[in-house]
Amino acid sequence: MPRPARAMATEAFLFGGDYNPEQWDESVWLEDVRLMREAKVNAATVGVFSWSLLEPHEGVYCFDWLDRVIDLLHENGIGVILATPTASPPPWFSLAHPDALPVTAEGHRLWHGSRDTYCPSAPAYRRASTEIARRLADRYGTHPALVAWHVHNEYGTFCHCDHVARSFRDWLRRRYDSLDRLNTAWYTAFWSQHYSAWEQILPPRQTQYLHNPTQAVDFRRFMSDEMLQGWREQRDQIRAAGSTHPVTTNYMLPTWNHLEQWSWSEELDVVSMDHYLDTVGPDGETHVAYGGDLSRSWAGGEPWLLMEQAAGIIPLHGTRYAAKEPGRMLRNSLSYIARGSQGALFFQWRAPAAGAEVWNSGLVPHAGRDSRVFREAVAIGDALSRIAEVAAPPETGPIVSADIAVLWHADGWWALENRALPSEALDYSDAVRGAHQALWQTGHAVDFVRPGADLSGYRLVLVPSMFALDGRAVRALSEYVSGGGHLAVWYFSGIADENLHVAPGGYPGRLRDLLGIRVDEFLPLAADESVTLSDGTTGTLWSESVALGTAAAVTRYRGGPLDGRPAITRNDLGQGRAHYISTRLSPAALGTLLTEFAARAGVRPVLGSAAPPGVEAIRRNGRRASYLFLLNHGDTPVVVTGSGTDLLSGSGCASGLTVAAGGAAVIREVGKTQVVR
Ligand code: GAL
Repeated sequence: MPRPARAMATEAFLFGGDYNPEQWDESVWLEDVRLMREAKVNAATVGVFSWSLLEPHEGVYCFDWLDRVIDLLHENGIGVILATPTASPPPWFSLAHPDALPVTAEGHRLWHGSRDTYCPSAPAYRRASTEIARRLADRYGTHPALVAWHVHNEYGTFCHCDHVARSFRDWLRRRYDSLDRLNTAWYTAFWSQHYSAWEQILPPRQTQYLHNPTQAVDFRRFMSDEMLQGWREQRDQIRAAGSTHPVTTNYMLPTWNHLEQWSWSEELDVVSMDHYLDTVGPDGETHVAYGGDLSRSWAGGEPWLLMEQAAGIIPLHGTRYAAKEPGRMLRNSLSYIARGSQGALFFQWRAPAAGAEVWNSGLVPHAGRDSRVFREAVAIGDALSRIAEVAAPPETGPIVSADIAVLWHADGWWALENRALPSEALDYSDAVRGAHQALWQTGHAVDFVRPGADLSGYRLVLVPSMFALDGRAVRALSEYVSGGGHLAVWYFSGIADENLHVAPGGYPGRLRDLLGIRVDEFLPLAADESVTLSDGTTGTLWSESVALGTAAAVTRYRGGPLDGRPAITRNDLGQGRAHYISTRLSPAALGTLLTEFAARAGVRPVLGSAAPPGVEAIRRNGRRASYLFLLNHGDTPVVVTGSGTDLLSGSGCASGLTVAAGGAAVIREVGKTQVVR
């Protein structure tokens, strides 16, 4: 079922978030809608965790309360994003179907009492999920308040039980066709792992020592496909009930990555994302940009939706909380919107009075209406209504035009989860985020691309630490460079094929010809070690003994065992160019290098030249004009001169528009030249 083009091309931005009225007395609902109207909230996500109230006993449904909630929201002009509640089955379900509770890799079956206590492959769970989805779709599928369907919540629950084992084997049969091919792909001659019957194959349960890495990555791939199948089954119920609204589910970044987003995104009507910062301060801003650019890219450049972000304090890695500074909620919301989101939704509308997430913030915090956070919520609602015209996407063409692309694939993340690596500090997410962050600092617009995709629309393509590449991906990179493209590849990329088999004859075996180099040895660096390069910069984490083939050295190692050896190389192939970076550069050095690469590839920053420090510029294309979003994360005001009008303040830029420290402007452009000082 192809994704309807621009499925979420709303004419105004959505603002609001998860709404859990079932936690409150109905008198509070009346206050909720009053406050929602005050804050210009126009979208509430309901029902995410309400299965046990919607179906208190097996087959006994209780929709009256949800009828009243949805009608109340509708009467107040608030749209509903209706969730299916399948992320948290009720206690009766797990007692009736103990085989549908999840089993850890260690073999412990988990009990209910939290959330996400289900096995994604258990037939009873799948049946119950489609049943509740169908009941909801029958009842609300044509309700005028409905905006979209939010199936499940943050897919990502793993299980290692026998149901999963059976499903895993079916998936492997489809992938490999024969046991011989599986044995070859999994390299089972190693450690006597040869399988002589399909039934012998297990999920990667706890074992004596290291897991087979190909089995582990295949299990991740399988789990992603298995969960997608569960999503499809619910989507099909919704469609069978006659509901035509967009169907989505919320991805989750950055702390974990359980889905292969490219294949999921082909099926979702709209990509949506929950994005919780794991850093605050300036790093947090680059992080928002990262989530936004990834989401837009997964959506194939189409509008997407920021489904959740924290309102007040942010749980960092679930262990510590940090406050969002004043103004950050609006700047972050605008950053996502500038990058293609059709709204800014939050977790959650009202902070709960108790429960495991009592300290997770809400737009209405425990303090209630008289609070900074609620005042900021009102300011966001106001800002989004002022920039409503930006929401209509262009008839054709991208929402954000980027000339630089970064290769992204979940396999890259999963392949480096195997801890038996030459350095335990090798980290895919860190490498990709580092590349994106460097380009954020230099003010360039960035897309992410799928390995194997046609790259001809980009001038510069970056490959940070993509350990495994299949033949199609390698061909796409070669064709790109032969067609005149500029490429930069980081250490530990192209080492192996999709089965994680190292290509023989020197690293990076799969990209050796393209890069014109050969590496015969890795020299990983300890946490307190670094290497010096001939341009005075330093490298950490990694170094390699690079020999030149057709490439030339751009920078060399100075001192130490690699003294005089190439560190960064350049291979010219006709109009095309392929660079190799063999160590981990500091953010500043990487920024300088990528700025040079970009300039040589003919790519300029969004503002034409570097923005003042702390100022972020993103251009979003709209139906009527282009819009320059300027986010001033710094602590001094900046002045914009050019032609156009700031939709937030209503002021023109011709005689200079001041954007306060911590403030923002959304300029409807006339022409595209703006000077920011
Ligand atoms: C999200 C999740 C929400 C809530 C929130 C807390 O990832 O979807 O249900 O748990 O985190 O920050």
